Formats: sequence, structure tokens, C-alpha cells
Amino acid sequence: MLRRWSAAVAAGLLAAVAMTACGGDGGDGAGGGTDDGKITLGFSQVGAESGWRTANTKSIQDSAKQAGIDLKFSDAQQKQENQIKAIRSFIQQKVDIIAFSPVVESGWDTVLKEAKDAGIPVILTDRAVDSTDTTLYKTFIGSDFVEEGKKAGDWLVNQYTTTTDPVNIVELQGTTGSAPANDRKKGFGDVIATDPKFKIIASQTGEFTRAKGKEVMEAFLKANPDIDVLYAHNDDMGLGAIEAIEGAGKKPGTDIKIITVDAVHDGMQALADGKINFIVECSPLLGPQLMDLVQKVHAGETVEPRVITKETTFTQEQAKAVLPERQY
Ligand code: AHR
Repeated sequence: MLRRWSAAVAAGLLAAVAMTACGGDGGDGAGGGTDDGKITLGFSQVGAESGWRTANTKSIQDSAKQAGIDLKFSDAQQKQENQIKAIRSFIQQKVDIIAFSPVVESGWDTVLKEAKDAGIPVILTDRAVDSTDTTLYKTFIGSDFVEEGKKAGDWLVNQYTTTTDPVNIVELQGTTGSAPANDRKKGFGDVIATDPKFKIIASQTGEFTRAKGKEVMEAFLKANPDIDVLYAHNDDMGLGAIEAIEGAGKKPGTDIKIITVDAVHDGMQALADGKINFIVECSPLLGPQLMDLVQKVHAGETVEPRVITKETTFTQEQAKAVLPERQY
């Protein structure tokens, strides 16, 4: 009798555990993923082009682990077609949530619609898409890149208040068509347009990498003998450009003033060493907030459509002060 009763209780318990394991359709009917009760997150990363990206990947992987989220991570090697393939594969695997950092802004509607039709919620991280249909994703967490460009422009304008001489600027843009390249250019351009003495005499993509930053800066230096300022859309391109400037026998930070964006460790070191003049911070530590959003979306909770990362700026003195505690 006792044995029969125990068997019935055990069977009931097993059924309850099985239901919990299959549950969690994210309020969107997504379901799928693993059957261990964990949320499965498919994440498509841009690549490993910069120090920022490496820190961002680490933040996402560490936070997923800490939150007990089963992370399926895919590196797109800076190619949109790889990201589209990864998203389609996540849909086939029936993950619970898809998150991705879009390499470029355009061309996502079809695959985002496929995810929506499959009932899998999508979260944008770091970079935006230009889809007009905002129901294709649940939320977008990341920086305000236009604001970052404005901060760079404001610093520059303040440095040249006492002169009317022309200020010749060269610009190293990020990946062509990416949100940070488009927006950082716009924010900066809007601010310096208020005074005609600021002239962008050359502007080209350095693809957010150190190698390309160096190569393009070498070409800028050959074609333009009078460069006053370099505005680089990230630290890595700025660091590559520093090598080019030194190679041309000039002193970075003195002969040519340098403004960059990110504030990763190597950039901050160059700022503290006087080779960069000003850095606008762009935080890569998006992991904890992303996992929080993943859990909320999966639970069917309403989330803010836009979550903006808090960021600051650094002068050379400020860099010296914060460098010892810098996490990345
Ligand atoms: O999208 C963020 C940008 O991408 C970072 O500023 C840059 O370093 C990275 O590659």
C-alpha cells in the first residue's frame, strides 16, 4: 500500500517538474529552448573588431552565466549575412529570446519578421536598426551615439574659443552604415557646424579597427600637411592613428589633438600619457542590464522600449585618476 502511494507521489512530482521545464513561452508563445527550465538566449555579436567589443562579449557571457541563462553565442565577424544566418539558426533551434548587436542599421526587416512570426522576442543591444516597424523588437539597450558625437564636438569647440584661425579636422569613421558611425558623425558635425572655422578636411572609415585606423591616418597625413585635430569614432582607430602620427615624426596629443570614443583601457592609458586629449565614454558593460531585460521579457513583463546607457567623458587628468580601477 505504502509502496503504491509513494509511486503515485513520485509520478505526480515528475509531471510537475516536466511542466516547469517546458514552460516559459515568454508571453509570446515562443517556448522552445532547452528542457532544463533555463531561459535560452541566442546572441549574435558583431565580431571582435575592438577592445570595446571584447569587453562587451565578456560582459554578456559572464552575466548570462551569473543569471543562469543558457547562452548560445555567435560571432558574425563583422558581416551582416552571418548575423542573419545566426538569427535564422536561433529561430530553428526555438530559443526563448534572441538578442543581437546589428553590424549595420539597414536590412533587418525580413529576418526580424521571421522571428516575430515564430513568436520569439528580439532585444537589440548596443546598436540600433532603422526598421520603421518597432513591433519587430521588444526593446533596445545601448548608448546614445548622437550624444557621444555632440560631447566630442563640445569639447573641441571649447578648446578653440580664443582663435578665429581655421581648425583642420580629419575624421576616422566607424564601420560604414553602422549606427555608431552614422550617429557619432552627425552629433559631432552638428556641433562644429555652428562655427565655420571648423573644417573636416578628410573623413574615411577605419572600420573600428586599429590596423585600418593606422592605414587611413597614414594616407591622411600624406595628403594633408596641416592637420590640427583627429576625431576617431573609437579608441582602437585612434590608437592605430597614433602609430601613424609618430611614424610621420609628429607628436600625438600635441602637434595633432586627438578625440576618441569608448574609454577602454588602452585608450585611457594613451589619454593619461598625453597622446590622446579627450575621450567620450561608451560603456561596453551591457551584460547585467541585458540579462535583466531577457528575464523580464521572458516573463511577459512590459519593458521600456529604449534603455540608454549612462556614460561620462574623460580629460587627461581624469584618466590618470580612474585608470587604476578601470574594469576594461
Ligand atoms: O557599437 C559600439 C562600437 O563598436 C564601439 O564604439 C566600437 O569600439 C565598437 O567596435
